[in-house]
Amino acid sequence: MEYQFLLVKPNVRPGVTVVQINRPKELNALNRTVMEEIGAALTAADADEACRCVVLTGNERAFAAGADIKEMADASAVEMLNRDQFARWEIIRKTKKPVIAAVSGFCLGGGCELAMLCDMIVASESAQFGQPEVNIGVMPGAGGTQRLTKAVGKALAMEIALTGRFFPAQKMLEAGLINRVVPTELYFQEAIKLAEEIAQKPPVAVRLIKESINAAFETHLDEGLMRERKNFYLLFATEDQKEGMAAFVEKRKAEWKGK
Ligand code: CAA
Repeated sequence: MEYQFLLVKPNVRPGVTVVQINRPKELNALNRTVMEEIGAALTAADADEACRCVVLTGNERAFAAGADIKEMADASAVEMLNRDQFARWEIIRKTKKPVIAAVSGFCLGGGCELAMLCDMIVASESAQFGQPEVNIGVMPGAGGTQRLTKAVGKALAMEIALTGRFFPAQKMLEAGLINRVVPTELYFQEAIKLAEEIAQKPPVAVRLIKESINAAFETHLDEGLMRERKNFYLLFATEDQKEGMAAFVEKRKAEWKGK
């Protein structure tokens, strides 16, 4: 598929696909086409058997500076409702393969919400996170009030969304929003390294672990625990479970079949 605002590179390392938002002049502002394309690229990655893990990134100056303000500035409430633009974001949330956000520079508003839709965040030390929607008379609309609160707790989420200030990567690392902060020249490589490690794991187990951990955010504890238990039992129907446990007992390296 041809993309207007994305660069997609399958198999940059074994099993790793890179999806790069490429709208640099607008600081990767997320208009409807960008979001449609990210959804399409992740759907394609899910369908691609060779892909085991995706790295979603922007550039050094901006992961994404938010939803495209110019595109929605004049919209009425009914127009926003009819556009149903967040439906596109649901596709990202429902991607079955792990998605790692490699973040540098501005990661704001919808950009921060997009990073939070990913499964892990690797950030450069120059990354800045924020939900500045309050400064333009609106509020986070792509899950920010919910996901941010679950990730960093009520007090900090309130401060971030009510002040609209930008917070450095180090602060967000301490708050638990992101996995690691590395020097700017290394953030992309670091994300690829993490993706490569995950790409070597048995794919069915990876998929069900992701689904189960997400259930912790999306369901009540009872339901989440039930989902985890069922997925755990289900893995005993895979050849990879037999192979993985046999390889451990036999002190050799496992060979994954994805079955
Ligand atoms: N939407 C549309 N265009 C944007 C944009 C956005 N979110 N962010 C930046 N741009 C554009 C600017 O308009 C500018 O374009 P022009 O050259 O045509 O004027 C270009 O990108 C470069 O930006 P700046 O000149 O402003 O760069 P800067 O370095 O001076 O400032 C910034 C950088 C602080 C990130 C500033 O651009 C900014 O505040 N951006 C908006 C951040 C924001 O409010 N994001 C939330 C959006 S609403 C949202 O996301 C809702 C939701 O929950 C889904």
